[in-house]
Amino acid sequence: MKRKHSLVLVGMLGVAMSLTACGDDSDSGSEGSEGSTGDSSAAAGKIGVILPDTESSVRWESADRPALEAAFKEAGVEYDIQNAEGDAERMTQIADTMIGNGVTVLAIVNLDSESGAAIQEKAESQGVATIDYDRLTLNGTAQYYVSFDNTLVGELQGQGLADCLGDKKANIVFLNGSPTDNNATLFADGAHSVLDPMTNFTVVGEQAVPEWDNEEAATIFQQLYTAADGKVDGVLAANDGLGGAAIGILEGNGQAGKVPVTGQDATVEGLQNILAGTQCMTVYKSATQEAGALADAAIALVNGEDAQTTGTTKDSESGREVPSILLEPLSITKDNVGDVITDGGQTVEDVCTGSYAALCTEAGIS
Ligand code: BGC
Repeated sequence: MKRKHSLVLVGMLGVAMSLTACGDDSDSGSEGSEGSTGDSSAAAGKIGVILPDTESSVRWESADRPALEAAFKEAGVEYDIQNAEGDAERMTQIADTMIGNGVTVLAIVNLDSESGAAIQEKAESQGVATIDYDRLTLNGTAQYYVSFDNTLVGELQGQGLADCLGDKKANIVFLNGSPTDNNATLFADGAHSVLDPMTNFTVVGEQAVPEWDNEEAATIFQQLYTAADGKVDGVLAANDGLGGAAIGILEGNGQAGKVPVTGQDATVEGLQNILAGTQCMTVYKSATQEAGALADAAIALVNGEDAQTTGTTKDSESGREVPSILLEPLSITKDNVGDVITDGGQTVEDVCTGSYAALCTEAGIS
């Protein structure tokens, strides 16, 4: 199957490359972007992707969208990428429109499993295949789940925080992701599995942040910090946005840089905080890899073939084993910030601005 698929891909690529001059009408605005190779044989399939929002992480618009566009263009398939702007009803409407416009594969990053499963059920009834992109839809019907090993993401965060804290006794606060995001559960479980057995650490506060809302995260962290009488020595924050919120509060209390904070997504802000010493680590998940895996799975579905999977993931609600392509996340500390840049995850121009230029030079990034 793999070889057959690769051959088809190579064939499509050849066609796409000879036709690059025609019909690419992509637009990079946050509303949506569509692209077409203008090739009728490759256009036998059209892939729709619905991203979740622009607020819970900058990754969706700044990393995933361009990576998805590049992957679909390279594969020579038509695509339509939209963003639900944090509104599940809007995601449902976009899905309806995409199905009406003839997408053959629909990939979603669900805003909650219930609305995601309803979208998938409807798609299936119209003969449209679905893929879970990044977040598993519990009780869903997706043919494939394309993501990273999210338990491992949490383990890397837990280990990263433990490494930054060392052997001393320390009080830890957990700032978890959205309770409606299955990934947030996996991140927290992974982090707990590393930190809980370490007897020198005490969890003095833990709360999930609805919709990963960064502003609410600051309020929640302030409350947890106050409840702990300011005796907080480390923060397990589930992504860079939540980490940034905690750092803001720590700054107001003269503690930024003294209290290690974790993150995820290797955002510009996260990497700058790591260089400045206010954040201890982040987790890099290559958007190019994830988008490429989605494009491969979607094209296999278009061609009626099996995608190459890394295994299955058990849906904790339905018990279904969902065929999965899970990629490997990478732990990033001050020592290897440069790896994100080398890999194309961020650029020197974006990270090494203003006062960060000197810190980049110090870290050997140029
Ligand atoms: C993703 C993270 C992201 C978070 C908020 C999670 O499902 O895996 O990369 O930071 O959602 O958007």
